[in-house]
Amino acid sequence: MKLTAVFPGTFDPITNGHLDIISRGRDLFDRIVIAILRNPDKDPLFALEERAEILKTVVGPWSNVEVDSFDGLLIDFVRARGARVIVRGLRALSDFEYEFQMTLMNQRLEPGIQTVFMMPSEAYSYVSSRLVKEVARLGGDVTGLVPPDVATRLNRRFAGMRRGGGRG
Ligand code: PNS
Repeated sequence: MKLTAVFPGTFDPITNGHLDIISRGRDLFDRIVIAILRNPDKDPLFALEERAEILKTVVGPWSNVEVDSFDGLLIDFVRARGARVIVRGLRALSDFEYEFQMTLMNQRLEPGIQTVFMMPSEAYSYVSSRLVKEVARLGGDVTGLVPPDVATRLNRRFAGMRRGGGRG
């Protein structure tokens, strides 16, 4: 039987740390479905459509990786996609508490679906979407932390905001 894993997240924007996890996961599972949370309450920098477009471009060459989005409970999406595994990346101890709570809640909601954690290369162990956005917003260089297309979009977005004095 083919094993499908779901890799959920906000991906606002995708970082090279996320990519590292996807590339490890695609060697372990037959198929990885990247599930982008449509979270208007988190006020994302990039709209869902743009996050999806970026992800599709970046994982385009990988035939066993696909991109989708979801709303509501993650576990419902995982079930609907016929998957039995949720993949999450674990960078540092500080991630643990949040991941621990989510995993136990998801286990309670659906004991038949397992969460598997993978660690990215140490080069990405400190990289997060939040920090990357902060550095780019303040004019710092994010080359090597995100795919080149994302760095370009971040620079363009924040340069526009600096000129316009708003969120852009
Ligand atoms: O990349 P993120 O922002 O840490 O991803 C968080 C995500 C999308 C995995 C999490 O917010 C989520 O699963 N949201 C869906 C709502 C849900 O299922 N909640 C109950 C289980 S904790």
